[in-house]
Amino acid sequence: MTEEWLAKTREYVKGRLTGEGSGHDWWHIVRVTKMAERLAREEGADSFISQMVALLHDLIDEKIVGDEEKGVKEIEDWMASIKVPQALQEKISTLVRQISYKGGHASQEFLCLEAMVVQDADRLDALGAIGIARVMAYSGNKGRVIHDPNVVARQQMTLEEYRSTRGTAIAHFYEKLLLLKDTMHTKTGKKLAKERHAFLETYLHQFFEEWEGRA
Ligand code: ADP
Ligand code: NI
Repeated sequence: MTEEWLAKTREYVKGRLTGEGSGHDWWHIVRVTKMAERLAREEGADSFISQMVALLHDLIDEKIVGDEEKGVKEIEDWMASIKVPQALQEKISTLVRQISYKGGHASQEFLCLEAMVVQDADRLDALGAIGIARVMAYSGNKGRVIHDPNVVARQQMTLEEYRSTRGTAIAHFYEKLLLLKDTMHTKTGKKLAKERHAFLETYLHQFFEEWEGRA
């Protein structure tokens, strides 16, 4: 039964998100679901719930659905239509709300293991090589420049100064990406985030060396 619900939900979400341009495209969901499956296995979380939450997690984002409550109603209607039992529906829907970036702030300490697994998987997708590609794609989509030394002067700036600047792709690394490693929940998630974080630092180092004509 669970395989069938997952297969149907995969098709549904694919239809909803194909061609989405704000970094919430279908392939983001595929990667997050794959990572959620791995983290669930390694951390002993429920695989079906973790994968369902991963598949549905972006459908309540206001950037996609306009209004979070409308998104919640839609995913509940969807699960009812494929006959996921009420108790599971409620569990999945509650977790989807919890892990959404905004909802996540308020309820950090109360996350259950499946919510931790999906939130870690989602955050990992903002790190590493994929994370860099997503920042550049998002910035291009919003018409932002890669880097502006007049806005963000040099690498030697303090993190505080850097974070106070907004609007370039490189600034987003300091505003968000480099902070994610310390927000991870699971052991495997922390390990992978550390590796992907180190890759971001290597990338930034090379970026500024090239920017100054030193490399
Ligand atoms: P999430 O749903 O994971 O919180 P967001 O909607 O915040 O994701 O972002 C989706 C992707 O776009 C992420 O990879 C994120 O790093 C990138 N992104 C978000 N905001 C910005 C920004 N201001 N500049 C560049 N990239 C951004
Ligand atoms: Ni996401």
